[in-house]
Amino acid sequence: MKITAAVLFAPEQPFEVTELELQEPRANEVLVRLAAAGVCHSDYHLVSGATRHPMPVVAGHEGAGVVQAVGVGVGDIRAGDHVVLNWAPDCGRCFYCLRGKPNLCEAYVGPIWAGTMLDGSPRLSLRGNPVYHFCGLASFATHAVVPRESCVVVRKDVPLDVAALVGCAVATGVGAAMYTADVRAGDSTVIFGCGGVGLSIIQGAKLCGAQAIIAVDTHSAKLEIAKQMGATVSIVAGDGAIQCILDATGGRGADHAFEAVGVPAVQEQALSAVRPGGTLVLAGLSPMGTGTNLPGAIITRQEKTVKGSYYGSVHPRRDFPLLLDLYKSGRLDLDSLISKRYPLTEINRAYADMLEGRVARGVIRLDLD
Ligand SMILES: NC(=O)c1ccc[n+]([C@@H]2O[C@H](COP(=O)([O-])OP(=O)(O)OC[C@H]3O[C@@H](n4cnc5c(N)ncnc54)[C@H](O)[C@@H]3O)[C@@H](O)[C@H]2O)c1
Ligand SMILES: [Zn+2]
Ligand SMILES: [Zn+2]
Repeated sequence: MKITAAVLFAPEQPFEVTELELQEPRANEVLVRLAAAGVCHSDYHLVSGATRHPMPVVAGHEGAGVVQAVGVGVGDIRAGDHVVLNWAPDCGRCFYCLRGKPNLCEAYVGPIWAGTMLDGSPRLSLRGNPVYHFCGLASFATHAVVPRESCVVVRKDVPLDVAALVGCAVATGVGAAMYTADVRAGDSTVIFGCGGVGLSIIQGAKLCGAQAIIAVDTHSAKLEIAKQMGATVSIVAGDGAIQCILDATGGRGADHAFEAVGVPAVQEQALSAVRPGGTLVLAGLSPMGTGTNLPGAIITRQEKTVKGSYYGSVHPRRDFPLLLDLYKSGRLDLDSLISKRYPLTEINRAYADMLEGRVARGVIRLDLD
């Protein structure tokens, strides 16, 4: 079938909205008509070259839509179901899946990073040449064929653009606070970076009962949104930020610091914001091949812990429905997280707005064209 998609032909180029050919779903695959796709910084890493990937590629990994058709062998997902897409599909049988870490599934990581379906071949093409799928999802498109394991069926009484955000920013952020860091009532937290991920960490910290939620960002407009989402203190990023964090935490630093930018220098700075015995959680994705210089002497003597957080340590099938229930009961404010909706044709403007700090989260609405 013919679909419309935003294609990235090479790094440092704009997305080009064009018509592509999409094959029918094969065994254990699902055809989804996308309703919404979030504008996550991780897609922009393909543009900047921070993440390397086969090209041309259809990016987009924070999507939700309605199932159109299913391939042979898919018995538990039906046409008409609303689905949130999972960018780290898990096999349920490998070393990590069996140890309760589906976000680290080792069976599917190969084809997912090769930009194909799980059988190693793409379903997208342009004039007979292959086009690759980012994260097996390629959700900057009107339609997508995805592995069945990437589909999480969700309640139908949630707007699909809100549901889309649960597929990356909300799971990553709330999960980082709730699962990776295990924030407890009364804890102090500091969050570097108030984009879709950082704002979700703020909401997760609030949900877990943190008493201090300190937001740090370079843009003061982002700090206003952070306060609306639960930040108790806001600090403009820069040289004086660490002293302000120490002042706000009895001179010790926070129990938990989160880096949600993806810049080695910020990761290094964030460790100084952690109290002795506390934890630094790295949620931002720094460019492939870069290093972060963390002082071993301080980590040892002050018993600081550094933890990576991939997809917020969530179990998508368990947690996407839970996060939407928390939204419906008013415990997560996902409506305010979406500050702008764009048609697919305006995807380059959507990314420019993200880079300039003009939005909490932008969302591409596939029904706006
Ligand atoms: N770990 C995961 O599983 C996972 C999942 C999704 C996204 N990510 C990564 O998380 C990071 C954030 O993603 P996002 O979509 O929220 O991005 P975003 O661009 O929406 O937000 C980043 C925020 O950081 C702020 N910022 C920039 N420089 C800063 C600095 N020096 N100090 C403090 N704040 C600064 C920006 O103003 C912006 O508000 C990216 O690196 C992204 O790739 C990781
Ligand atoms: Zn697995
Ligand atoms: Zn993302």
